[in-house]
Amino acid sequence: MNGRELVRSMKVLGSVEGLRLVRSAWRRHRIDARALPPRGAERARVPGPVVEAEPLPGGGIIRFARSELRVSVSAGGTVFWGWDGAGPLPSYALAGDPPEPDPRAVLEPDTDGGWRVVSERVTVAVSRHGAVEVRTPGGVVLRRDLPPRWWEPVRNGESRGGESRGGESRGRTSRGTETAAGQGGSGEGSPWTARRAARWVQRSEVPADARFFGLGGRASGPRLRDGSYRLWNTDPSAAFSPGDDPLYITMPVQLVVADAGTHLAFHDNSWDGRVLLSEGEEGAGSGHDRPGTSELRMEGGPLRCWVIVGTPARVLHGWAALTGAPALPPSWALGPQHARWGFGSEREVRRVVDGYRDRGLPLSVLHLDIDHYDGHRVFTVDRERFPDLSGLADELRERGVRLVSIVDPAVKAEPGNAVYEGGRAAGAFVRDDRGEEVRGVVWPGECAYPDFTDPKARKWWGGLYEERLKQGFSGVWHDMNEPVSFAPFGDRTLPRSARHCLEGRGGDHREAHNVYGLAMAQAGYEGLRALRPEERPFLFSRSGWAGMQRYGGTWSGDVSTGWPGLRASLALVLGLGLCGVPYSGPDVGGFDGAPSPELFLRWYQLGAWLPLFRTHAAFDAGRREPWEFGPEVLEHARAALLERERLRPYFVTLSRLARMTGAPYVRPVWWGTPEDRALRDCEDAFLLGDSLLVAPVLSQGTDRRAVRLPRGWWYDTATGRAYEGPGQVLLDAPLSRVPVLARAGAVIPVRGEDGEPALEVWAPVAGRTGGGLVVRDAGDGWEQAEIERYQSRLVDGRVVVERVTDEGVEEAGLPVRVRGRAGSDG
Ligand code: GLC
Repeated sequence: MNGRELVRSMKVLGSVEGLRLVRSAWRRHRIDARALPPRGAERARVPGPVVEAEPLPGGGIIRFARSELRVSVSAGGTVFWGWDGAGPLPSYALAGDPPEPDPRAVLEPDTDGGWRVVSERVTVAVSRHGAVEVRTPGGVVLRRDLPPRWWEPVRNGESRGGESRGGESRGRTSRGTETAAGQGGSGEGSPWTARRAARWVQRSEVPADARFFGLGGRASGPRLRDGSYRLWNTDPSAAFSPGDDPLYITMPVQLVVADAGTHLAFHDNSWDGRVLLSEGEEGAGSGHDRPGTSELRMEGGPLRCWVIVGTPARVLHGWAALTGAPALPPSWALGPQHARWGFGSEREVRRVVDGYRDRGLPLSVLHLDIDHYDGHRVFTVDRERFPDLSGLADELRERGVRLVSIVDPAVKAEPGNAVYEGGRAAGAFVRDDRGEEVRGVVWPGECAYPDFTDPKARKWWGGLYEERLKQGFSGVWHDMNEPVSFAPFGDRTLPRSARHCLEGRGGDHREAHNVYGLAMAQAGYEGLRALRPEERPFLFSRSGWAGMQRYGGTWSGDVSTGWPGLRASLALVLGLGLCGVPYSGPDVGGFDGAPSPELFLRWYQLGAWLPLFRTHAAFDAGRREPWEFGPEVLEHARAALLERERLRPYFVTLSRLARMTGAPYVRPVWWGTPEDRALRDCEDAFLLGDSLLVAPVLSQGTDRRAVRLPRGWWYDTATGRAYEGPGQVLLDAPLSRVPVLARAGAVIPVRGEDGEPALEVWAPVAGRTGGGLVVRDAGDGWEQAEIERYQSRLVDGRVVVERVTDEGVEEAGLPVRVRGRAGSDG
């Protein structure tokens, strides 16, 4: 905890709590020292030479001297491999049953004594020492995972063999599963649990030209440069900047983009770990390529991996099929949102909402932070400051503004607190190795933590959202769920030895930590669905893991106010989108401090193009209402807001498409042309869907910026001028706007001047056609929505827009406004 954070928590918690923090940190330390004895003697194990192979549908099992590897290719081309009995389940990431194996994919001998599985979309080759190569059907290597290495405790009577080399290691049987059984610290019997505590390392190679993306939300991205990235969800304790790692959402999911193709690799393992990335170099030493490398070092858990190959769109589609389609936000959650820690009272809320209305600024959602709770206790209301919360909610709703509530997982541990007593009665709280409730310190003081990995705790917790709905809230904002326990030193979370249910398997916080926020999101989502089945839940969560998109989105967390924080905001949204979480956005204006008018405006102009568009800040930060920065900022912010509202139908379409295809709304500029190397390195612009390219201003004093264009023709939407990509152009970026380009031929759903749906069409270039998909807002329930397909073409120099149906081509049926042609209103 740094100085500023300490001061802030003192302000909130009071100075008595300072002592409590120290006590709590010591307690955590003591529990772990008692329950997790040091590792003791360990020795390395590698698979050793191949012994035999057993074909199974979609692949088979390949046995090595000291390990075994299961490989399976699914009908859609998704690859799974797992060592030493690790199968796809159990998994917190997967949405359901693993995909069916491809019956036509067969295991066959490869050259050099290895084995391979050949399928239509991908070939997996396993070398005789256990390296796994994923190749394109044409034989180009996309990824080579070298034989892994485990560090296992030396059992009594065994000599401490040190690192085994060349496949030799004493005292082992030839069957990996038997070898591994009975090892590890937990002594819980089954091979699965016994192997949990073995550390392992796996090094992978990717093509020399490859770029890495993903690993959850990384402030330094979107391109992940050489360095070490930790896999342990962490509250950075103060507003973060691009150098801070890890943050709230880490995932062992990497997207690798190379000339040879794009692939996603997911090591399904929620334990603490680290990824060391190093980009390769073409023609490095004596003209030879140096491959890129990714080394994964895990503190325990299964060694299993999914690999999906194809175009970026195919890869994300496959990822959504595996881990679940993104939850569809209600359409109001695609509108402008305002939050603040410390509204203080109903009066202040009204003042802010009136402020928007009086200035003609649309507002869709207002968020209440922990200060509306009674003494920071979750699921309560401070009746002095919010005497009639549900009345306020009704009133705001009539004015078109929804209320969203923060929900923190930690429950104040005190007799008389109904939520605490209910949780105790339900047996819902995390306990330590001796069966004592684990306590930590968060905003309300000393707290207990629900064990969201326990189905019965999830059910109990989900039921508590009834209180939020009765208060009139329309959605929830999950926070502090890494989970956080404040500490002046050490890890700001629960003891690593804290016990968790893990769906009945049993285990500890080392395995449960990273999925805590994900499981909380599941609890909240399922609770809201049961309580209000007719409406789609709105939920976003600070922490999470692979698969969290099934329940909702996320936001940046406490991004620091400054130009680097602005840049980090975009990196997070892009990186998370490539990990399958399409709905997110930053605290517009930054979480702490006071942005300059220019910085605030540039943040606003970025936020307006991101899925979650929300201003938010700490109680001791400067204001974030757009009118607090002078008339010029107000005017330009209004323009950004109005443009966002005009494009709401496009955002609705993108949210539906994200659900149907897994494609994020906000995509890196290389999305459609990953072979364009210059685009792979472009980190300061993004595609919004297929049709728009947004080039935000991310540095001070800029009124013109370079924009790198993908292949094809693009119109500057401000001037109507057309540019041909690939290439770079210099565009004006006055304070009033950021450059936004539209793809020639694009058909974009917008709100017409009368507020009704309309199509904006950017003229196709001669000889080319264009088009676009439209999904109309079908309400906030579960209605299926139809995808409408439009095409645009030039006929005798005139732009014609038609709807394409199964029966053929028909009139567009919506008002059309053509833009982008010389002589038109471009
Ligand atoms: C955390 C959240 C922040 C919130 C604050 C108080 O710092 O990230 O958004 O305002 O807690 O609840």
